Amino acid sequence: MAAYPPEPFRIKMVEPIRQISPEAREKALKNAGYNVFSLKAEDIFIDLLTDSGTGAMSHQQWAAMLSGDESYAGARSFYRLQTAVQEIFGFKYFVPAHQGRAAENILSAVLVKPGQFIPSNMHFDTTDANIRARGGRPINLVIDEAFDPANQHPFKGNMDIAKLKKFILKTGPENIPFGMLTITNNAGGGQPVSLENIKAVSDTYHEYNIPFYIDAARYAENAYFIKMREPGFQNFSVKEITRKIFSLVDGMTMSAKKDAIVNIGGLLCLNDESVFQNIKNELILREGFPTYGGLAGRDLDAMAVGLYEGLEEDYLEYRLGQTAYLATGLNNSGIPTIQPPGGHAVYVDAASVLPHIPQGEFPGQALTVELYREGAIRGCEIGSVMFALPDPDTGEMVYPKLELLRLAIPRRTYTQSHMDFVIASFASIKERATLIRGYKFTYAPQLLRHFTAQFEPIK
Ligand code: F0G
Repeated sequence: MAAYPPEPFRIKMVEPIRQISPEAREKALKNAGYNVFSLKAEDIFIDLLTDSGTGAMSHQQWAAMLSGDESYAGARSFYRLQTAVQEIFGFKYFVPAHQGRAAENILSAVLVKPGQFIPSNMHFDTTDANIRARGGRPINLVIDEAFDPANQHPFKGNMDIAKLKKFILKTGPENIPFGMLTITNNAGGGQPVSLENIKAVSDTYHEYNIPFYIDAARYAENAYFIKMREPGFQNFSVKEITRKIFSLVDGMTMSAKKDAIVNIGGLLCLNDESVFQNIKNELILREGFPTYGGLAGRDLDAMAVGLYEGLEEDYLEYRLGQTAYLATGLNNSGIPTIQPPGGHAVYVDAASVLPHIPQGEFPGQALTVELYREGAIRGCEIGSVMFALPDPDTGEMVYPKLELLRLAIPRRTYTQSHMDFVIASFASIKERATLIRGYKFTYAPQLLRHFTAQFEPIK
């Protein structure tokens, strides 16, 4: 199996992890209502639930935290963050927010009116829910290749430009307060969007005077994919590619818990002054004063340093190499994953590992539970538990096209032996796959139900 570049860092502090017994795991699953979000973290050996806020900060980030300025207004930490944000992204205005969904909430509160539509390649679940919470309708217009797990398209996160144009004409640009694009496309396999496509999306929105916002949670990984895969960009730095991307847009929401490698933090950036005024007022109501946005000064400093570290190319090469290593190892053990491997995570095609479990019985959830049972490894269902919703017009259940189990890799946290252990655990599951049963809800809230739903196995 192709190894990946050695970690461009060494370990200076360790956090012990342990594997509890199979009996203890079974008990923990039952107590958690078979929802891995309800497990105790200490009962997990390798935690691939998310790459969000779970990365290891560097010694420079920890050092920067000690110089955090905790002034309520105008803290030095804010201005250090402002320098990083302006240098990397180049927006005129920005506010910090405590995480990505807080930025989405503020943006939706200011711009979305009931009955309006917000297109994207694919909205992440929190973006989707924040738009719905304001009475808006999130619309996903990613290219069809995104729904074919075996398709090797290098930019499977791309927006389908023809679908987008058709949608805008049918809906009327006046009913679209802004358009979005998620880079990389988390809900569709962590797949990147090409610069050519970002430009075409920008041109399309702007042709109809629709402001264009990017969900930039994993923009640095996306930029590195552009450098690797898009003809003409090999000689550009990731920083240069980033500037090109953000010169094409009017604003961005960002969860800094991903590519800025912090445990908490987010950003909302834009160029429109009047929208910025409204954002500041909404922020004061919900998050905090515009120079701290719901964070401590030290958090702003960790973010300012992390934004630069997330762009380092030796780190990005190692990072994407580690993800590809896990995907290849699983494929070699007969476990199909979305191809090509994404940036931050490997997405196991649960529907083909468990073809006997119908969508209504949650094959992604069944595989997630089985992975914990096998190796005390925690992944995350991205399938019908997360996305199957009744159509607001017809009431009919709409199932997602893919039933996935996501293995998200925290940044700078796990080693190659951890990846090998995950691969071996899947190989054991594969051997008894036909015996695995589906699940049904015993409790499910209306929005974002995967976080708190409870299940029981189907007899
Ligand atoms: N946008 C994308 C593309 C995301 O992946 C996430 C979070 C958010 C927005 C929201 O950011 O968590 O800081 O509020 N994704 C995490 C995940 C939760 O596990 O993929 P947040």
